[in-house]
Amino acid sequence: MEAQLKAMRQEALRELEQITEIDTLTEIRVKYLGKKGQVTSMLRGLGQLDPSERPRMGQVVNEIRTELEECINAKREALKALELSHRLASERIDVTLPGRKPLIGHKHPLTLTLDRIKNTFMSMGFNVEEGPEVETDYFNFEALNLPKDHPARDMQDSFYITENILLRTHTSPVQARTLQATEPNKPIRIIVPGKVYRRDYDATHSPMFQQVEGLVVDKGIRFSDLKGTLELFIYEIFGSNVGVRFRPSFFPFTEPSAEVDISCVMCGGQGCRVCSSTGWLEILGSGTVHPRVLEMSGYDPNQVSGFAFGMGVERIAMLTYGIDDLRLFYENDMRFLRQF
Ligand code: DAH
Repeated sequence: MEAQLKAMRQEALRELEQITEIDTLTEIRVKYLGKKGQVTSMLRGLGQLDPSERPRMGQVVNEIRTELEECINAKREALKALELSHRLASERIDVTLPGRKPLIGHKHPLTLTLDRIKNTFMSMGFNVEEGPEVETDYFNFEALNLPKDHPARDMQDSFYITENILLRTHTSPVQARTLQATEPNKPIRIIVPGKVYRRDYDATHSPMFQQVEGLVVDKGIRFSDLKGTLELFIYEIFGSNVGVRFRPSFFPFTEPSAEVDISCVMCGGQGCRVCSSTGWLEILGSGTVHPRVLEMSGYDPNQVSGFAFGMGVERIAMLTYGIDDLRLFYENDMRFLRQF
């Protein structure tokens, strides 16, 4: 039996020697040390030996078992280390390669302009409100003192969905919505950015464009408050050297109404193609809120008064950046957008 044991030990060690993969180690372990393994059956066979031989043989088998266990474990560690060093070698990073720069975009020029407008009014204590782009005839027109047959409706040719539902033609409906959502006669100081829609398309008009509406209502609000607020806004956006002019105008929802012009940013007021030789550029509409607008939405014009204004974001952006075609904003041409 002793010779048999020696041969088995030698064979096992030889097999271990040749192994190159961790998975095969388990096979060897099962083959020799498993329940039906060779070493285990040798141990069982001890019972058939002469009792005088058993202790010595038992010791030899146990020694072989311990040795094999140790060798298997050592081999496992060696194989793991080998695998790790292969991995480290194959996954080595070449730190001298030039990096790949992530492509980070930036805000669209209209968003930049809108951000500036919002920040200016927010610093004056205005809140930002929003309203639906699909609007009822009532909020878009009637609640703004534009009844069904009012001729001023012609200025805002619309996209109708049904007879009484349309894509809003301006952000002014949010004036009425806010008045109605607020406890009567409580102060209001809001701006309303948003998309609006009209049947227009040329170098300075797009069927979809963006406006910022403003509404201030409180006790004792006067036209001079409107003037001071808008002048401050204009100086903030166009610089304090720009000329500002209030020109009488008409809007059904304000009385009196004024259009606000700034001196031409292209020619400095000398007169050029952009300002049609007038030296002035119109940038927004405004006025003292018409008493009927307050009344229709539950406010009492005898107790409070207000002013309102509305401007086109594209127009402000065109004038601040010196862009002569509004359609560029919506063409997604990277050569254009990268410039901002
Ligand atoms: N809603 C007007 C338009 O789109 C702009 C406007 C003018 C808004 C005067 C106002 C205002 O709030 O007071 O043409």
